[in-house]
Amino acid sequence: MAEIASENVVTVQNLLSALEGESNANAKYNAFATKADADGFHGAASLFRAAARAEQIHAGNHARVIVQLGGEVSFKIHEIELKSTLENLKMALAGEQYEVKTMYPEFLAEATAHNNVAAIRTFHGALEAEKTHVRLYSDAIAQVEAGKKDAWTNKTKEFFVCPVCGYTTETPNEHDNCPVCNAPWARFEVIR
Ligand SMILES: [Fe+2]
Ligand SMILES: [Fe+2]
Repeated sequence: MAEIASENVVTVQNLLSALEGESNANAKYNAFATKADADGFHGAASLFRAAARAEQIHAGNHARVIVQLGGEVSFKIHEIELKSTLENLKMALAGEQYEVKTMYPEFLAEATAHNNVAAIRTFHGALEAEKTHVRLYSDAIAQVEAGKKDAWTNKTKEFFVCPVCGYTTETPNEHDNCPVCNAPWARFEVIR
């Protein structure tokens, strides 16, 4: 088995913790999408599916770096508590806010202190992508709370996800390249 260099032990622990968080977010959002479709919030379901795909991309990126650093990939999927779509959106937003304000800044600082380029890249990509999820979930909550018939959360909607970093947007061809990782727009995945 590969050895983890002593300066990378904490970084690998952080990557494993982020991997578990992203894997659980992916499972949760897919379940929330099914529930949102059942509740008639098809646009919210599209957003959950797009964010779920982004979290899967983050999990894959983190896993690759864990292996690169000699660690072993493992995570546990926790049981999912399904509530109303509005409550599920609020739970999703709280998770994203924790990642943006606390988890990724701490992990990024630790990786930066050790000049671990691969870990910096995967944490930075995830942090910036989660910011797009904070914005989109906040907007979805406002739409559902306002309860208007023409709310975007009611009708199946297209989202565009960067396949490299998970950056998520509802605006087609917003930039020529991903504003986070520079991947070309042509490679973005369309999620409905
Ligand atoms: Fe996210
Ligand atoms: Fe990207």
